[in-house]
Amino acid sequence: MSVRQPERVETERLVLRRPRPDDAEAIFARYASDPEVTRYLSFPRHASLENTRAFLALSDADWSRWPAGPYLIERRDGGELIGSTGLSFETEQRAATGYLLAREAWGRGYATEALRAMVDVARSAGVLRLHALCHSDHAPSVRVLEKAGFECEGTLRRYVVFPNLSPDEPLDVLCYARVLG
Ligand SMILES: CC(C)(COP(=O)(O)OP(=O)(O)OC[C@H]1O[C@@H](n2cnc3c(N)ncnc32)[C@H](O)[C@@H]1OP(=O)(O)O)[C@@H](O)C(=O)NCCC(=O)NCCS
Repeated sequence: MSVRQPERVETERLVLRRPRPDDAEAIFARYASDPEVTRYLSFPRHASLENTRAFLALSDADWSRWPAGPYLIERRDGGELIGSTGLSFETEQRAATGYLLAREAWGRGYATEALRAMVDVARSAGVLRLHALCHSDHAPSVRVLEKAGFECEGTLRRYVVFPNLSPDEPLDVLCYARVLG
């Protein structure tokens, strides 16, 4: 049975919370329009605030339909927006996750801290399998997944289009997963 999850979660150094309509400008400016941040992501870099507002509409649709959805990542100390993570439910018991941070927040263990929190949220929601797909060249992300206890199940060949890297053809990706129950 799936269980509704809190819209705000605190970790040692972070606040994870459901996005709000008035977050659009900060999301766009701090990371969604940054080519470095979006290189290995599966959505096109935001070219305008319209793209960011479309993300916020999808977020609300996810939160309406499922026990949780996207979360924004803020520093507890200072409160500024530094990134995004979340759960994308495929069924009540299977979800995907991901994470991204503004460049100034890289290299401090924040992604690992956020991912561990998503594992806890997923488990509380009744998810049995949580997975994440990652470009095989993306060493920092592979490391984050391994630190959070995800295991590589193999390569999904020609599986994901990375619109900011290779928009015309799907590339191979590593499939990482954690079984939660
Ligand atoms: C990938 C990303 C989320 C990592 O966030 P982060 O907060 O810097 O990650 P962490 O600090 O928790 O851990 C990064 C780990 O990768 C390691 N690392 C960093 N660069 C590396 C490299 N080039 N090769 C190997 N390991 C590397 C770090 O040393 C660290 O491991 P350690 O704790 O054992 O030292 C961040 O760089 C980001 O947001 N990138 C853009 C968005 C993105 O690509 N998201 C993932 C899509 S799959």
